[in-house]
Amino acid sequence: MAHTIQKAPGKIILFGEHAVVYGQPAIAVPIPQRFATVTIEPIIRGDHPTHIIAPDIDLDQHLSDLPDNHPFVLICKLVKDHGNLHHLPAMNIQISSTLPVASGLGSGAAVSVALARALCTFLGVSHSNADISGMAYEVEKIHHGNPSGIDNTVIAFQKGILFQKQHPIQWLSLEHELDFLIVNSGEKKSTKIMVDMVAEQLQNSPERYQSIIEQIGSLTLQAKSDLESADIPELGKAMHQNHLLLQQLGVSTPTLDKLVEIAMKNGAAGAKLSGAGGGGNMLILPNTEKIYSVQNALLHAGFTNIIQVSIH
Ligand code: MEV
Repeated sequence: MAHTIQKAPGKIILFGEHAVVYGQPAIAVPIPQRFATVTIEPIIRGDHPTHIIAPDIDLDQHLSDLPDNHPFVLICKLVKDHGNLHHLPAMNIQISSTLPVASGLGSGAAVSVALARALCTFLGVSHSNADISGMAYEVEKIHHGNPSGIDNTVIAFQKGILFQKQHPIQWLSLEHELDFLIVNSGEKKSTKIMVDMVAEQLQNSPERYQSIIEQIGSLTLQAKSDLESADIPELGKAMHQNHLLLQQLGVSTPTLDKLVEIAMKNGAAGAKLSGAGGGGNMLILPNTEKIYSVQNALLHAGFTNIIQVSIH
């Protein structure tokens, strides 16, 4: 068994977060600039158990000492079952990530995908993108109970998608490359808390919240064609509208609203929170000639954690 290294990108949701949990469509793309990396080396001699090191989360332990419901233990079990293996050989597994946690960029799903793919490759277990996505989905359930499946899908397939539960995946096909900015608000919130909060609102006022969710779904479908034809003004408008609907769902924060305002005042075509909200990252579509003025205004306001991504 040879030394194996696998990487998996982060993701950003362009339209439809939260509504996607309730069966509406959502659009997401991978972000190759930020990724999780998993390296596996065989342990050749001696009676060593499998060891996992993940410095980002201060983990340096034998696999057998972790609880059964630990995400890494679950991925190892799923790969073992998928390959019909009786046991796993001793190995050293090293996990690292350049993705910030709890900030809407899919850090958990990226680690699961990289780990599942590295284990399958290392152990010679044949696997498809759908197999890897399915394994990462099982971990998503531990992380936040009721995941839609969009994060593990876009990360495992590494392609832009329109995702809707119980429907075949639609791949995005863009006529022109589009540049976006992703800005970290500096606030962190767990996806589980935000998803649970929306579920509670929906239970308390079903009519009001169901209507917001359906409006997000229609907007997402309309935005798919604006995205594919690179209609920047219409796409920007749809992003801003999506942000306002997410505000009504109660998942925005004053900082996210302020970021949207700064972006819009300085020449962005559109801006919105992205992912579960409650903090995390937001997404800006700058008018091409205004990209530096938007970036400067954000830096000036103290938001220095900015990634530029090209979607094609
Ligand atoms: C999280 O990246 C996106 C949410 O819609 C949750 C989900 O789809 O599982 C908030």
